Amino acid sequence: MNNYNIEDILKEISQNFKNFTTEIENIESMESLYVLKTKYLGSKSFIINVLSNIKNLPNDLKPVVGKEANIVKKQIEQKINDKEKYFKSLQFEQELLKERIDLTLPGTKLNIGRKHIISQVIEEIEEIFIGMGFNIAEGPEVETEYYNFEALNTPEDHPARSLHDTFFISENILLRTQTSPVQIRYMEKNKPPIYIISPGKVYRRDYDISHIPMFTQIEGLVVDYGINFRNLKWILEKFVHEIFGKERKVRFRPHYFPFTEPSAEVDVSCNICNGKGCRTCGGSGWLEILGAGMVDPNLYKYVGYNADEISGFAFGMGIERICMLKFGINDIRLFYENDLRFINQF
Ligand code: PHE
Repeated sequence: MNNYNIEDILKEISQNFKNFTTEIENIESMESLYVLKTKYLGSKSFIINVLSNIKNLPNDLKPVVGKEANIVKKQIEQKINDKEKYFKSLQFEQELLKERIDLTLPGTKLNIGRKHIISQVIEEIEEIFIGMGFNIAEGPEVETEYYNFEALNTPEDHPARSLHDTFFISENILLRTQTSPVQIRYMEKNKPPIYIISPGKVYRRDYDISHIPMFTQIEGLVVDYGINFRNLKWILEKFVHEIFGKERKVRFRPHYFPFTEPSAEVDVSCNICNGKGCRTCGGSGWLEILGAGMVDPNLYKYVGYNADEISGFAFGMGIERICMLKFGINDIRLFYENDLRFINQF
């Protein structure tokens, strides 16, 4: 540019732009676009060189060259920007394609939880008794010896106390071995008429095919004016027919519980042999389902009732046992092993 021929300078500038336009046509990647950008707009590029040398030109050429070089510089910048945008949108489209979701593919199946069979049967039993006018009452699983034994007519030297293999937490504090303590707790706080059932967990030191250390019972208690054994029989028969079916027979066998007098164990006719006797019922034709009896009047002393005015009955059943009989399950431990192949059947 030393001879300052304006024609030549302008020609060179337009040639530079022409070269640029042909080269940018062939650019196919962002990387080579950046290389091109350095070549045409970098500090060593032709156009930048022209612009920084303007100060050396004769005054009359300065505006002409300056104007032209700036126009070309702007155009180069514009074209590079456009190309850059184009590559970016291309890249975005490709990313979208890669991430495309096939909506027609089947989704991952969610494993929907369900109520445990024991909870289902508890609810079924609750509904039967609620239908007969009973309320639901609950009590603590950690109990005192007083509520679990003493107030249930089972003093320390009573042989029944050794029948229960009890988990003691400390002296006088234990895991309840039965739901019967709820009877006492409820009577302490309420006056007759009382119609309650009380479901809950109970604990005994036992483990085999028909015993586990934690299981579920439902207690029943009725205390009212003029309650007698026939009322107990009617209610339990009604319950058995609801839960096992109308064709099942019910029988009461004399038994002993410290807190009921008279006491009975209640059997239901075996559904496998229809009462004829088979392996399931041990040849007897009957299956034991619960314990029951008239509330021993002694209990009323503990809760301040007048035994001459009122009377009542109580019953207690193991839910796992009811489930086993209802569904033909032969090992109580299955309920708590949490094997989904078992649990999902209900
Ligand atoms: N609590 C007794 C048991 O666990 C069952 C029972 C309850 C018996 C109520 C009679 C009355 O064996």
